[in-house]
Amino acid sequence: MPKEKNIVALAKSFAAIHKTCFGNPGIKFSSSFILSLIENPNVKFIEQEQKGFCLARLSNGEAEIITMAIKPEFQQKGIGYSILIKTIQLIEKTSCKTIFLEVASDNVAGIRLYSKAGFNKCGIRKDYYQISNGKKADAIIMKKTLVE
Ligand SMILES: CC(C)(COP(=O)(O)OP(=O)(O)OC[C@H]1O[C@@H](n2cnc3c(N)ncnc32)[C@H](O)[C@@H]1OP(=O)(O)O)[C@@H](O)C(=O)NCCC(=O)NCCS
Repeated sequence: MPKEKNIVALAKSFAAIHKTCFGNPGIKFSSSFILSLIENPNVKFIEQEQKGFCLARLSNGEAEIITMAIKPEFQQKGIGYSILIKTIQLIEKTSCKTIFLEVASDNVAGIRLYSKAGFNKCGIRKDYYQISNGKKADAIIMKKTLVE
């Protein structure tokens, strides 16, 4: 398959996985949006085929976990942790010294996963996520320092 088709198929697959994880429209990632991300040379990803992925953006000494998602039927089997650790190892090979991310304050699984991987809470964005019925959720900002 030509490389361009591969990347389009990958973006579709990531979008489909993301959709199974995040039902609400406020944080849905379309395949065209994901394609625009993975075409960006500053955006890196780790995937486990058809099961899950993590997207990270590198910029000027800092990295950001953009999103990650594991298909519900493959969750709680260690795949998310494995993908996250591989993403951190990839970032460690760059000049980035810190990794930031945002996670919804009610996302217990996400917060526990990131804490297990060495991220600490460092801030909060009130009403950051639009969720169903016009309700909003806070974003917890988490940070991991790679080099002291
Ligand atoms: C959060 C998510 C990526 C975790 O992936 P996963 O493959 O299920 O996670 P793992 O099996 O590797 O578990 C790693 C750790 O995460 C935490 N965790 C995972 N699922 C959990 C759950 N349902 N409840 C509480 N903690 C959970 C635990 O600390 C776990 O470590 P432990 O098994 O030693 O207790 C997955 O649940 C997911 O895709 N959720 C929807 C999308 C999302 O919330 N993404 C993250 C925010 S952008």
